[in-house]
Amino acid sequence: MFNYKLNKFTKIVIVVNNYFKHSSSIVSEKATIGDGSNIWHFSHIREGASIGKNVNIGQNVYIDKDVVIGDNCKIQNNVSIYKGVAIGQNVFVGPGVTFTNDLYPEIYGWNEEKIIPTFVKDGVSIGANSTIVCGVTLNENCLIGAGSVVTKDIKSNMIAFGNPAVEIKKNKS
Ligand SMILES: CC(C)(COP(=O)(O)OP(=O)(O)OC[C@H]1O[C@@H](n2cnc3c(N)ncnc32)[C@H](O)[C@@H]1OP(=O)(O)O)[C@@H](O)C(=O)NCCC(=O)NCCS
Repeated sequence: MFNYKLNKFTKIVIVVNNYFKHSSSIVSEKATIGDGSNIWHFSHIREGASIGKNVNIGQNVYIDKDVVIGDNCKIQNNVSIYKGVAIGQNVFVGPGVTFTNDLYPEIYGWNEEKIIPTFVKDGVSIGANSTIVCGVTLNENCLIGAGSVVTKDIKSNMIAFGNPAVEIKKNKS
């Protein structure tokens, strides 16, 4: 029973989880979603995932266990982000982008020790339908062209594209 007496020195703080989730999406009770974020249709956020503030998650997005996504990111439709991926702030992930977490996938013998981490630093943009092979770091403000397969680290402020993606020139922004 609540029988705590209030006086002028007592402060009550009510924490409201203030984000929008479309009713067709599934968000684990063990995921953390920041204020002002939106989760649109048919998306699935797994347990332990941590999504920052003002993050826009489009339709049919899969965010695996323990994935970290920083504030102000935009995750477009049909993106898959698997365990082992950590994404910074102000990151744009274009439609259909797929991250991976296992370099030698096979039908049997999966265990989480096989996971190879991938890091996406602040301000990165990833073009539509790119595949990010695990174990790389996309450094600050780099831009990955549409349809790329990224197999190596990309330096800060560079534009890279192709299969395999290579750094072509400086990013304007
Ligand atoms: C990578 C990108 C930024 C390059 O733009 P750019 O610097 O203006 O490059 P250009 O259009 O001048 O193209 C230069 C050359 O690279 C090629 N090229 C451009 N983008 C490419 C890509 N993603 N993959 C392979 N080749 C590409 C062009 O065909 C051109 O080849 P050429 O020299 O043989 O003619 C842009 O093409 C891109 O992919 N942007 C991402 C778009 C996207 O996915 N948006 C998501 C939101 S919808």
